[in-house]
Amino acid sequence: MKALVLSGGAGTRLRPITHTSAKQLVPVANKAVLFYGLESIAEAGITDVGMIVGDTAAEIEEAVGDGSQFGLKVTYIPQERPLGLAHAVLIARDYLGDDDFVMYLGDNFIVGGITDLVDEFRGNRPDAQILLTRVADPRAFGVAELDHSGQVIGLEEKPDRPKSDLALVGVYLFTPLIHEAVRAIEPSWRGELEITHAIQHLIDSRADVRSTVITGYWKDTGNVGDMLEVNRMVLEGVDRRIDGDVDTTSETIGRVVVEEGARIVNSRIVGPAVIGSGTVISNSYVGPFTSIAENCRITDSEVEFSIVLRDSSIQGVGRIEASLIGRHVEVTPAPSVPSAHRFVLGDHSKVQITS
Ligand code: DAU
Repeated sequence: MKALVLSGGAGTRLRPITHTSAKQLVPVANKAVLFYGLESIAEAGITDVGMIVGDTAAEIEEAVGDGSQFGLKVTYIPQERPLGLAHAVLIARDYLGDDDFVMYLGDNFIVGGITDLVDEFRGNRPDAQILLTRVADPRAFGVAELDHSGQVIGLEEKPDRPKSDLALVGVYLFTPLIHEAVRAIEPSWRGELEITHAIQHLIDSRADVRSTVITGYWKDTGNVGDMLEVNRMVLEGVDRRIDGDVDTTSETIGRVVVEEGARIVNSRIVGPAVIGSGTVISNSYVGPFTSIAENCRITDSEVEFSIVLRDSSIQGVGRIEASLIGRHVEVTPAPSVPSAHRFVLGDHSKVQITS
């Protein structure tokens, strides 16, 4: 069995964070979302991975390399434009050959991995198996309709009037039968070859399409609150590990990870929290559910329930909460006169000010 991981596309939803970088590399607890997916593929006993890449290919290849860091063998498959999930299957035909495969969307996060699901598929070997989860607003997803016995009878892509609250999760298990289906469909109104249409084609030709409903799922929806929430969930599972320097006037409490090369000086870190390598926290407080990535400077400040991406600095600004701070960002106090806020904000930035 192989895996087909989709890491192409253009990241517009989590902007401004993904204006310039791959959305699959947005970090959760200081680790790219994509890496959790690759780890769960390896855990499920799959080693051959075809990786669909687009505009951000260089960045993905730099992060993933040949896959050996995950125990995988990664083959890159360039996609000229994001022409749809079924298009990705179409261009991977030669790579996939006649193997069964799991298709994994690189920006999806599945708590608990996919091992049970892959084992179940290997055991029963239906023609295809999809994953569903209940969501509050299904209009942003593919939506499944089930009959009384739980059999999938219809799939719709981002419907205005969803027939259920069961959204398609970005993990699909396929036998080679899917190759006929992706060749049989036409592009949708948005110009994409939709995998939902290909699966609907299988259903219409009476293929055995099964579904499993899961909990513990996250997908970027452009909602920073969601991202803070999944960061919180993952941090709750980390084990305490102090590999960096913590001076004698500092305190680390609970599930705290201080990576090698990080320094904590005269500060208090209350877990769960992770501090990336090369980061220096001084005269500061870092509170629960916070991820500070590599090479940051946090000085004379308090940060809680937040994500700070690499190479950023926060100095002398009091308390920051529930914030997502990008790369190479500087947050500093303004001079006292004139009393004014000063900003250099990228497109689509959001600022909330207490005054
Ligand atoms: O995440 C679950 C949803 O994923 C499903 O509920 C939908 O049925 C399914 O169509 C898909 O919806 P999105 O429109 O949200 O997919 P998105 O464009 O975000 O692409 C998902 C991943 O696949 C992302 O990592 C980018 C990559 N991709 C996407 C397309 C369209 C490619 O590599 N190539 C592509 O052509």
